Amino acid sequence: MWGTQLTSAIKLAAQARGYSKAAKDFEDKGQFVKARELYLKSSKLYNEASSINTDRTERNTQRDIAQHLFSKAQSLKSNSPNSTKVETENHNFNDQQDEESISKSDFVLKEIPKIGFDDIGGLNDVKEDIRKAMIYPFTHKELYQHYGQKAGEGILLYGPPGCGKTLMAKAAAKECDAEFINVKTSNIVSKWVGSSEKNIKQIFETARKSKKAIIFFDEIDSIAGKRSDSKDYSKRMVNELLAQMDGVEQIDSDILVLAATNEPWNIDPALRRPGRFSKLLFIPEPDHDARLAIFNIYLESRPIDPHLCLDELAANTEGYSGADISSICKEAADIPLNEALKGGLIRNIELRDFTTVILRRSPSIKSWYIGAQRSIKNSGEESIFKDILERVA
Ligand SMILES: Nc1ncnc2c1ncn2[C@@H]1O[C@H](COP(=O)(O)OP(=O)(O)O)[C@@H](O)[C@H]1O
Ligand SMILES: [Mg+2]
Repeated sequence: MWGTQLTSAIKLAAQARGYSKAAKDFEDKGQFVKARELYLKSSKLYNEASSINTDRTERNTQRDIAQHLFSKAQSLKSNSPNSTKVETENHNFNDQQDEESISKSDFVLKEIPKIGFDDIGGLNDVKEDIRKAMIYPFTHKELYQHYGQKAGEGILLYGPPGCGKTLMAKAAAKECDAEFINVKTSNIVSKWVGSSEKNIKQIFETARKSKKAIIFFDEIDSIAGKRSDSKDYSKRMVNELLAQMDGVEQIDSDILVLAATNEPWNIDPALRRPGRFSKLLFIPEPDHDARLAIFNIYLESRPIDPHLCLDELAANTEGYSGADISSICKEAADIPLNEALKGGLIRNIELRDFTTVILRRSPSIKSWYIGAQRSIKNSGEESIFKDILERVA
C-alpha cells in the first residue's frame, strides 16, 4: 500500500510542478490574478502529495514548497496593481471562494464513530488504560472529584503502523459517547500557511462548543516536530498547540486530547510535559491471541471452510499488523470470488487461499522496528521508548 501511496504522491507533485511553472509564466507576463490562482492550485497539490508521501524527507520538502508557493500567492494578492478587472472576470476568480476553500472543514472533521472496543482485536491492556484515563473520568465524574483526580491528561498513542492507533482513538470516543474531532493534521499543514496559530485555536474552540469532545491529532509528527529542527511557521504551530493544551488542562474538564504517531521520537519533547501528552501508550503489533481475535472479526461474516483452524492462521502470521491481517482476509476471499466470477463453483474460503496470500505478503512490522530502534538511539530517548527497544526486531 505504501508503494501505491508513493506513486500517487509522485504524480501529484508532477502536476503541482506543472501548475507552478505556468504560474511563473503568467507572473512574468504581469497577469497576477491568473498567476495567483495557479500558485494556489500548485500549493494545494504539493500539500496533498506531502500528506500521502511515505518518504519523510520528501514529505517535508513538499510541505515547504507548498508553504513557499502559498506565500507567493499571498504576496501577489497584496501587490497586484496590474491585475485588471477584465482578467478577474475572465478567470472567475473570487477571493472569498478561495478563502473558503482553505476553511476549517478541510482539517477538522466532527464525527460520531461507529466502531467500539469490541471491533478491535486484542490490546486489552491498552483498552483498560484508555478506560481509566478517558472513560471513567466521564462516567464516574463524582468519584474522580471525590478523590481529587482530574481528567484531561492528553494521551499519545504510538507504535508500528497499521496496529490500531487510529482505530483505538475512534473507539475511545464512541465508548465515552463524546464528539470526535478528527483533526486531519496532514491537511492542516497546508492551511497553517499564513495563519497557523489561528487554525489551532479554531480546533479547540470547535471542541469547546461541544458538550463533551475528544480532539484527535492523527499523525501528530507532521505538525509537532522538534522545534529545534523546524521552520518558523512550524515553531509557531507547536507553541500554539502547547498553549491550547495548557488551557484545556486548567479550564476544560470535558475536552480530552488524543494524538497518534508512528514516530514518537520526532515529536517536540515539550509536548510530553505534565498536563500535555503526559500519558504515552504503546500500541504494539498483535500477539497470537490478538491476531486470532482480528481474524475472527474479519471472517465473521465471510463464508469460511468449517474445518479452517483460525488458531493456525494466527500462528502463521507472527509479525503481521492488524491492517495486514485485514488485507489477508480480503485477498483470501478474492480467490474463490474470482473463480466463481469466471464460472467456477461457489465455494468457501479455505486454508489454501490463506496460505497463498500469506506467502506472497511479508510481515510489515519488522522493518518498522529496525528503523525505530535506530532513530530512538540517535535521539537519545532510550529511557522513554523502552517498549520499542526491548523488542527483538
Ligand atoms: N487490533 C485491531 N483489530 C481490528 N482491526 C485492526 C486492528 N489493528 C488494525 N486493524 C485494521 O487495520 C486498519 C488500520 O489500522 P489503524 O488503526 O489505522 O492503524 P494505525 O493508526 O496504528 O496505523 C484498521 O482500519 C483495521 O482495519
Ligand atoms: Mg493511523
